[in-house]
Amino acid sequence: MEAGRLLPDLEKEDFRILMAIEQGMKKSEYVKVSDIRFYSRYPMEETLYRLKKVHKIGLTIRNAAQYVVSYKLNSIGYDVLALHTLVEKEIISQLGPLLGKGKESDVYSCMDDEENIFALKIYRMGRTSFRNIKRYRNIIGNRTHLSWLYVNRLAAKREYNALSKIYDINLKTPKPIDYNRHVIVMEYLRGKELAYYKDIDDPEYIFQEIIKQMRLIYQKADLIHGDMGEFNIVADKDGNILIIDWLQSVSADHPNAIRILRRDIKNICDYFRKKYHIECDTGEILESFLKE
Ligand SMILES: Nc1ncnc2c1ncn2[C@@H]1O[C@H](COP(=O)(O)OP(=O)(O)OP(=O)(O)O)[C@@H](O)[C@H]1O
Ligand SMILES: [Mg+2]
Repeated sequence: MEAGRLLPDLEKEDFRILMAIEQGMKKSEYVKVSDIRFYSRYPMEETLYRLKKVHKIGLTIRNAAQYVVSYKLNSIGYDVLALHTLVEKEIISQLGPLLGKGKESDVYSCMDDEENIFALKIYRMGRTSFRNIKRYRNIIGNRTHLSWLYVNRLAAKREYNALSKIYDINLKTPKPIDYNRHVIVMEYLRGKELAYYKDIDDPEYIFQEIIKQMRLIYQKADLIHGDMGEFNIVADKDGNILIIDWLQSVSADHPNAIRILRRDIKNICDYFRKKYHIECDTGEILESFLKE
C-alpha cells in the first residue's frame, strides 16, 4: 500500500503538519497555510518547509485560488496518519498483502511485533458510490461540509463498536483489536469467502453453525447483520468461520428489524439450498429466532 511504503520516510514534524491539516479540515475542505501554522504551532518557516515536503511525496492536494494557498489531505495522507498512530501504539508493526477489495474498503493483512497476523480494514467510502454516503446523512445531519474523512472515520467506529458488542459474547466474528481514524485492526482467519469454495466438506454443519451464530447475535447482542450472505462469511479448510462486515448492522429494535432479519436468513437459505441442496425454511427459522 502506498501509505505503508511512505511511512519510513516521514519524520515527526511531518506528522504534526499532516495533523494540523486534519484539524483544519473539520471546519473547511481546504486549510489555509496560516491556519496550518496555527494548529501545528510551528514557526512559518518550518511550516512551509514541511508542507512542501509532504506535498511533494503526494500526501496533500494544494489549492491556490485568489492568491491564498491552502491544502487538504488526500486519502494517502489520511492513511499515513492512521497507520502511524497504530504503529506508535504498537498495535501493528508491518503491513502485508491485500486480502480483499470491497465496495467500500480495502482489507490488508498486517503483523505486530510478535508476528501475530491481523486483518486491517481501511474504509474508502465515496470512492465508487455515493449510495453509502447517503445512508450516513442521518448521522451527519445537515453539515454543509460533508467530508469523506468524517464519513470514513464514522464508518470505522461504527463497525468497531458492532464487532466489540458481538465479540463480548464470544461469537464467530473477528475479535476487534483496535481502530484509528478510518482503519480497523481485527482478528484474521486464513481462508476465503464461502462463495469462493467450489465445495465444502460438511455443508450441513456449516449451515447450522451460521444459523446458530445469527440466532445468538440476534438474541444476545440484539443485532442483525443486514448484509448476510456467502460473501461476508470467511471460512478456512477446517470448517472454521468468521462472519465479517458489520457496518450496516442494525439493532433488534430498528423499525424494519424483522424484515432485515428475514432477508438475512433467506440469503443463507437460498445459498445452501441452491448449492448444497439443504432443506431450509426461512419462515420457520425466523420464528425460532423470535420465540425463544
Ligand atoms: N477478518 C478477516 N479475516 C480474513 N479476511 C478478511 C477479514 N475481513 C475482511 N476480509 C477479506 O476482505 C474482504 C472485504 O471485507 P469486507 O466484506 O469487510 O469489506 P466491504 O468493503 O464492506 O465489502 P463489501 O461492501 O464489498 O461487502 C472480505 O470479503 C474478505 O475476503
Ligand atoms: Mg463484504
